[in-house]
Amino acid sequence: MAKNKKNVVKKLTKKKSSKKSSVKKVNVLLKSDEIKIVLPEKDIPTAWYNIIPDLPVPLDPPMHPGTKKPLTPDDLAPIFPMALIQQEMSPQRWIDIPGEVIDIYRLWRPSPLYRARKLEKALGTPAKIYYKYEGVSPAGSHKPNTAIAQAYYNKKEGVKKLSTETGAGQWGSALALAGTLMGLEVEVYMVKVSYIQKPYRKSMIQAWGAKVFASPTDRTEIGKKILAENPDSPGSLGIAISEAVEVAVKDPYTKYSLGSVLNHVLLHQTVIGLEAKKQIELAGDYPDVVIACCGGGSNLGGISFPFIYDKLTGKHPKLRTVAVEPTACPTLTRGLFDYDFGDTGEMTPLLKMFTLGHKFVPSGIHAGGLRYHGDSPLISLLAKEKIIEAVAYDQIPVFEAAVMFARTEGIIPAPESAHAIKAAIDEAIKAKENNEKKTILFNLSGHGHFDMVAYDDYFSGKLKDVPLSDNNLKKGFESIPKI
Ligand SMILES: Cc1ncc(COP(=O)(O)O)c(C=O)c1O
Repeated sequence: MAKNKKNVVKKLTKKKSSKKSSVKKVNVLLKSDEIKIVLPEKDIPTAWYNIIPDLPVPLDPPMHPGTKKPLTPDDLAPIFPMALIQQEMSPQRWIDIPGEVIDIYRLWRPSPLYRARKLEKALGTPAKIYYKYEGVSPAGSHKPNTAIAQAYYNKKEGVKKLSTETGAGQWGSALALAGTLMGLEVEVYMVKVSYIQKPYRKSMIQAWGAKVFASPTDRTEIGKKILAENPDSPGSLGIAISEAVEVAVKDPYTKYSLGSVLNHVLLHQTVIGLEAKKQIELAGDYPDVVIACCGGGSNLGGISFPFIYDKLTGKHPKLRTVAVEPTACPTLTRGLFDYDFGDTGEMTPLLKMFTLGHKFVPSGIHAGGLRYHGDSPLISLLAKEKIIEAVAYDQIPVFEAAVMFARTEGIIPAPESAHAIKAAIDEAIKAKENNEKKTILFNLSGHGHFDMVAYDDYFSGKLKDVPLSDNNLKKGFESIPKI
């Protein structure tokens, strides 16, 4: 008996000690093979980075849509609160993030930075691939970073309601979330085709207490006019913007909120790059190339501007930044750099940007958030100055990349974000061919849990790539005003 007891004890201790050594091994593994680089809440940035003072050449001013003269802050006052108008034109490099905004950022920020080890292995690349994951926000994308800030400044200036447009529903749901957290009403004009195709984004908007309408609607003059011309209009982002702006202009307690393009939106998104810079430094690395998809340019500006600062100031002169867009809406790769309206109804200021023409209607690809005729003036200027490069992909290879990513890294990406994945994979393959130890960083701007119809179309072979003809491009260019 005693002998038996001794044996059992021996076995147990043996087991225990082998357990101990395996724990040790895991620890060693974690140190050298880290996958997730997470920061504590205290490392949420306390100021946004404004790239305007560091630009190599000054931005051309936005123009009044009627007089075609440079805008004054008063011109914008009917649609935006003064704090955001000041941020739009601010020459200050750092702008403090209000405590109340940081308190809400705490719900999901700092977002994790991942090393895509399984994807690297599947590609057999010597490159290191990192991605910043913004899909951890309650709305599932980077959009709440600015939605929360915009709702805060509006609330502070006594605004009661925000109106906005949304394409696939990511921005509309982000603003609905911000409205409920900040105590503001929100009214969303959702492009009709997405309203029908993506009913669950609509339900999310409603779950957060906002109202959502299929645009064009009969609630606005511009909506009525478009419906009179074409009762079956599928809508477009340009039309929905016109409707949301009209609602704000007509009501002194309502202001308009835009989810991309403008300087203050890109400013708010720089929390992404500021965190990523700290995280990649903790991993002992620095990117050779920063990649993001580009619709209006906000997630691209958000991740890249804090790194581009290093390029502009000579610390990392070789840094590359790549904007990725769909071939169906190739604003940076085939557009013109000129003044154009931000909307179809010609109500917004004229912005100097790459544009396909404000009457251009892209084909109905699934990356709805990338179907915008223009681009942020900041991104446009940096692209013109060759500080940012641009590439365009058809949607089928983008979905192939998305599925490869889902099957290696586990996350099912939004179709928009999958454009960045495709470009990152191509960079990693190039590194393999050239036997280069490159470091790639991309922004995974959102998850695709509400985009499964798109995946369904891909798996059933229904997805099509329709080339954009020179003729259609030319037609779009004809709508660019001569000023
Ligand atoms: C997940 C996601 N990524 C990217 C974009 C593109 O917008 P932006 O270029 O402003 O980041 C959108 C727009 O709706 C989006 O929903």
